[in-house]
Amino acid sequence: MNIMEHAELERWLREERPEVLEELWRRADAIRREMVGDEVHLRGLIEISNHCARQCHYCGLRAGNRDLTRYRMSADEILECARAAARFGYGTVVMQAGEDAALTGAWVADVVRRIKAEVDLAVTLSLGERSLDELALWKEAGADRYLLRFETSNAELFSRIHPPKAGSATVVDRVAQLQAMRSLGYEIGSGVMIGIPGQSYADLARDLELFRELDLDMIGVGPFLTHPATPLAAISPNAGVDQAPATELMTYKMVALTRLCCPRANLPSTTALATLNLARGREFGLLRGANVVMPNLTPPKYRALYEIYPAKACVRETAEQCHGCLRRRIESIGRRVGQGRGSALRKTSEFR
Ligand code: 5AD
Ligand code: FES
Repeated sequence: MNIMEHAELERWLREERPEVLEELWRRADAIRREMVGDEVHLRGLIEISNHCARQCHYCGLRAGNRDLTRYRMSADEILECARAAARFGYGTVVMQAGEDAALTGAWVADVVRRIKAEVDLAVTLSLGERSLDELALWKEAGADRYLLRFETSNAELFSRIHPPKAGSATVVDRVAQLQAMRSLGYEIGSGVMIGIPGQSYADLARDLELFRELDLDMIGVGPFLTHPATPLAAISPNAGVDQAPATELMTYKMVALTRLCCPRANLPSTTALATLNLARGREFGLLRGANVVMPNLTPPKYRALYEIYPAKACVRETAEQCHGCLRRRIESIGRRVGQGRGSALRKTSEFR
């Protein structure tokens, strides 16, 4: 397959004709089937804490949002979710949180060890920008994968919406962080938001090129959804920017092009996409390049509090309901629930 150049990626991102887009969906679905097959892997998501020390301009969990009730799950509660994941037959649990200093290196390492001792699951961490020492400690404890979206490849835009840690003058280089995680032995995942105010079509095309350059194992893309308690709610995009829209259609184009750029990567059909189209969003994502879904395992009493963006899908459901819902959706489109961990199939993995 030819490698798509920047101009071709951008052309696809601007394409609006349904009959032409059908060709993109068809190609993405064919490559998905050829490279990763018909199995849809289930990653059970545990939102372990909504405390966050950071001030990201897009995220509802930002420290400056005083209207949010904060919670932190206990180790026992997390273990209970991991047991549920094993009962449901998931291959992976994902522990996600804001940048919460109370989730110390030692505490997280202990939880990872306990999960690995009790259940035979891959453990993915998504805990923000953490130190290399912590990342090494967690790898040692048995963590398998780490997710850190770079959010946008436009460094100027990223620094505008993502202030540095308190006490630090510069923004962390997330690309360098991802490379360091890979050197530690993690499978690495990243991704972007689509339609951030100030993000252009060219920026999205560059995001796709960066996915390819980084040879990522996992890539999550979803629409930017405005949270009223964040600074981006008050921003109207600069008229000089060739603004990419935060739409369902643009998200499908990004999912499909991500599949074409990174044929073997594990790509989720994201909750943010489902939020834009509750009836069919997940299915369309899976039909246009995605091969992963992330059923929510977070206890119901905490779910609504993990409000990264408003009207998030699944806040009123239980783990059982999300499990049944996603199973049905996968089967309704003629796909199969994945068996095993659904680890990376990167062609170069044998050399690492
Ligand atoms: N809309 C959509 N996605 C968001 N995220 C954070 N805030 C928003 C928002 N307002 C995404 C970021 C982050 C992931 C956990 O959630 O990409 O990495
Ligand atoms: Fe949660 Fe459908 S996945 S209700």
